[in-house]
Amino acid sequence: MQKSSTTPYHKLSLKLIAAVAVVTLLAVMGGTMIGIRYQEKAMFFAGLLFVCLTAFLCILIMKWINRPLSILLEGIRNIGKKNNEADIWVHQNDEMVHLARAIDEIAEEIGESRTKLKQQRNEYQNLFEQVPCIITVQDRDYKLISYNREFAETFDPKPDDYCYYAYKGRDEKCVVCPVEKTFEDGRSHTSEETGFSKDGSLTHWIVRTTPVKNDKGEIIAAMEMNIDITQVKQLEEELRRSEKKYHEIFNNIPNPVFVLDVEDLTILDCNESVKSVYGFDRNETLQKSFLDLFKREERALYGTKIRGAALINNAKQINKAGENLYVNIRISPSEYHGQKVLLVTTSDITKLLEAEQQLIQASKMATLGEMATGVAHELNQPLSVIKTASSFFVKKVTKKEKIEDNILLELSKEMDSHVDRATKIINHMRQFGRKSDMTSERVQVNEVLQKAFEIFSQQLILRGIEIEWQTENSPREIMADYVQLEQVFINLLINARDAIEERAKLNPDSDFDKKITLKTASAEDRIVIEVCDTGIGMSGAVREKIFEPFFTTKGVGKGTGLGLSITYGIVQNHGGTIEAVSQEREGTCFILTFPATGAQ
Ligand SMILES: Nc1ncnc2c1ncn2[C@@H]1O[C@H](COP(=O)(O)OP(=O)(O)O)[C@@H](O)[C@H]1O
Ligand SMILES: [Mg+2]
Repeated sequence: MQKSSTTPYHKLSLKLIAAVAVVTLLAVMGGTMIGIRYQEKAMFFAGLLFVCLTAFLCILIMKWINRPLSILLEGIRNIGKKNNEADIWVHQNDEMVHLARAIDEIAEEIGESRTKLKQQRNEYQNLFEQVPCIITVQDRDYKLISYNREFAETFDPKPDDYCYYAYKGRDEKCVVCPVEKTFEDGRSHTSEETGFSKDGSLTHWIVRTTPVKNDKGEIIAAMEMNIDITQVKQLEEELRRSEKKYHEIFNNIPNPVFVLDVEDLTILDCNESVKSVYGFDRNETLQKSFLDLFKREERALYGTKIRGAALINNAKQINKAGENLYVNIRISPSEYHGQKVLLVTTSDITKLLEAEQQLIQASKMATLGEMATGVAHELNQPLSVIKTASSFFVKKVTKKEKIEDNILLELSKEMDSHVDRATKIINHMRQFGRKSDMTSERVQVNEVLQKAFEIFSQQLILRGIEIEWQTENSPREIMADYVQLEQVFINLLINARDAIEERAKLNPDSDFDKKITLKTASAEDRIVIEVCDTGIGMSGAVREKIFEPFFTTKGVGKGTGLGLSITYGIVQNHGGTIEAVSQEREGTCFILTFPATGAQ
């Protein structure tokens, strides 16, 4: 800190003039008093003045230059001694003060920089000590020059230890040594090391070395930084094990599993079950499109379905041998190696469908059996018409009587139409009984209902059962297998007929409306069909079991208990629903719904 004197410059000048004047006056007075001559007086005066001025200047130089300079010097030395202040006290008010002030400011700045440097050095020292990794500095002989706390705590080194001894207890340098490489080429090197820490546990490190250079750029040491990656290694190992486990599970899932590219449905991965179901090796399948497993003409349709649906039932695919394969496909969006994919599982239902088809076929035969008496009625009528006409002809021909042309024509036409009718019934039965694969086509529900009813019309009339039609005028179509749908309606009609018969049998005296009502209607994107009867109805306990296979309340030889369970399966396969609403001794309503075409 600089403290200046309060003596201003002009005061000093005045003092100087006053001093010269006093000295001159004293000289004049002195000369006068001692009475010397004028020339001698002048010389004396000049001499005196010179002496006085010299003495005075010496005093001034001492006071205003020498002393402040030595104070400044002292102050500069103070800076050198790492003091933050020069502590210069200059008791004057001239350029020296400014100089002192400037030196003081420099001292302050140097002091601040020095404090900052000290702080930074402390910070770096702290970092070096506290950084959560091991740091050592080694010379060319791999002797430890310096190391941080982490190293000391982990390896407990002794003074003058060598790196290889401290780390691994070796007597000589490791075979692969990144420090050696750094000394060789002056570059940083990284390697992975395994060793034992102080507690004897196996530890893995990532080692990175960098050269430490002097002012001339010469490598004087190498710094080695080790990060403990034991936990990462353990996690990696766990991950590898769990990946292996899941891969094994993936491969051993009995159903084929495919991982598909979201965009083009390319097969990115698949499990080993694909081979057993499709016949393709994994390698043959990879990079193939999943759509290649469908028939060429159906690929576009299934492509849209796979991208939009979560479940596709009864999809038809082809295996390596080109055979048809029926599968249910489940699709769920997922991620695979960071890529958006579709996870697709398929379950082969070919055998199941075959068995189902056989069962349906068997039940059709049973239905035909149940219908046999009804069909006999149906055929009886045309046969009796033909019989009457033919008997008439025989009689006339035997008697050699002429038959009128118009009668001949009329009866021939009648016979012809009844033969047609009988043929139609037989064809219908034959068609119904034919074994067929499940097909799917646009079907008018009213038309199928009508066709199913036709087989019964005569027998229902004979039994006094009335049919009430409440069908929609122009109902939408559904996608269905015509014959299977007909089978559903025939089953329901047979049951309705039996229920009404049963009620009539139980209460022979009661007079109730023997009626079957057939309704069709559209509700949103579905078509609703109701088959209602005024039959015996069902108890709650019976209603719960009616869709179970072989459940029947009918006598031996009358019911098979297959009708409704087959009906249920067919309705399900068509994406439909079926339920029964029943009132005991009042009647039953079967309500079915199917998705209308265009709706999924
Ligand atoms: N419309 C109906 N009214 C009353 N009960 C019915 C009706 N439909 C079916 N059931 C009951 O459901 C049972 C199972 O029907 P189904 O599976 O067709 O077998 P089955 O007709 O051979 O007995 C019938 O035995 C009957 O008890
Ligand atoms: Mg039945």
